Amino acid sequence: MVTKRLEFQDLIKEDGKSFRLNTKVYKDEEIFRVEQEIFFHNSWTFLAHESQVEYPNDYMTTYIGRYPVILVRDERGKLRCFMNRCRHRGSLVCRAKSGNSRFFRCFYHGWSYSNEGKLVGVPDREGYPPDFDLDSMGLIEVPRLETYKGFVFASLKRDPPSLQDYLGNARPYIDLIVDKYPEGIEVAKGTHVYTVQGNWKLVLENSLDHYHAPFIHKSYFEAIGNQAGGRIELRSKNLVLYLGNGHGLDLMFRETDVYGHETNILLPGNRLDEEKAKWAKRITFHLLLFPNAILFDSDSPATTIRVVRPLSVNSTEVSSYCYVPKGVREEIKEKFLRVYERFYGPAGMGAPDDVEAIKAVDQGMEADLFPWNDLSRGLHREIRDHELKELGDFEVAGNGTDDTFYRAFYRWYVKKLEEVEGHEL
Ligand code: FES
Ligand code: FE
Repeated sequence: MVTKRLEFQDLIKEDGKSFRLNTKVYKDEEIFRVEQEIFFHNSWTFLAHESQVEYPNDYMTTYIGRYPVILVRDERGKLRCFMNRCRHRGSLVCRAKSGNSRFFRCFYHGWSYSNEGKLVGVPDREGYPPDFDLDSMGLIEVPRLETYKGFVFASLKRDPPSLQDYLGNARPYIDLIVDKYPEGIEVAKGTHVYTVQGNWKLVLENSLDHYHAPFIHKSYFEAIGNQAGGRIELRSKNLVLYLGNGHGLDLMFRETDVYGHETNILLPGNRLDEEKAKWAKRITFHLLLFPNAILFDSDSPATTIRVVRPLSVNSTEVSSYCYVPKGVREEIKEKFLRVYERFYGPAGMGAPDDVEAIKAVDQGMEADLFPWNDLSRGLHREIRDHELKELGDFEVAGNGTDDTFYRAFYRWYVKKLEEVEGHEL
């Protein structure tokens, strides 16, 4: 088989009238390997919300790219992140998804570690030389762990750009999510985890895609329309924004929910300043924190954190959590959960449609005699300035159904790939 050398810049073709993307970005093993290095192993990735490890000794296991890690609040209350790898022969040290424990005991030969990472127990210690140094055999700590407004991020690099800079223009939107409630947010117990057949970027793209909703989610809108006696209100003015650093936003100007009820009611004691409070009443959104988290602020379908984990070039694990306002009555939290379940999760009426659409894309793209996808929608009506700039800056915006985000994203993405030299595709 003849393999053709492809320069990264050849992944995009644009001439002012059209924009095409080579679908190798979703199918090529080498691109997948390179992008894991750049975007997951050499930058910041989202790990969790701190309410998921709220109390001393709470822990959860997750991943930074391909690296399994343990996120734990140690005995003294400090949040820490360790490689989930035994220093003996490399087994996962912790195989549970989450829990509360002062120790992690490897199930293979029983080496035990404190939740501060120290090796504290080795069965049959006498079998090792007397001067064998247990103190240097602790769990390897992830170099950087930081939080922004309760959202926890980690980096395998010792000196990444600051988290604040990395989040950049996404920060005002995180502020809106958290500060519109007097006590912020917390993640409700329980997780939906599912595997999608398709490249991880397809999941990100789908999460900001407004063009598809009336088609693949038709049955969902019909069902809730029936519940509401046929009186649902779907009209809203939408924008899609590219925020820089891979981050994006699908934003809806909407002051009522699908049933016409007033939404975005600010509770007394909210922590927004006057300017942000004005915006919190007017908008709702899906915020992509590249590379692996999407925060769904929308009142309907629901408040969600979707975490994306690439498994292979065309297989992606998605973990989905519902977040709720902290410190409010249980009935209110329950209402959030019921709305979440209606759209998301295995029995939801929405998310399974998206999974099916992504799979169909993955299958269709096998026909790669002409390997180009079209991302030209809205090329003639991109927005560089908008009153939203009062809230936060952005690079480019477009109508909510347009491909504006994808174009800006893939220009940035290809530049990042090009920074890595010596790869032959
Ligand atoms: Fe963990 Fe042996 S691999 S104790
Ligand atoms: Fe969808």
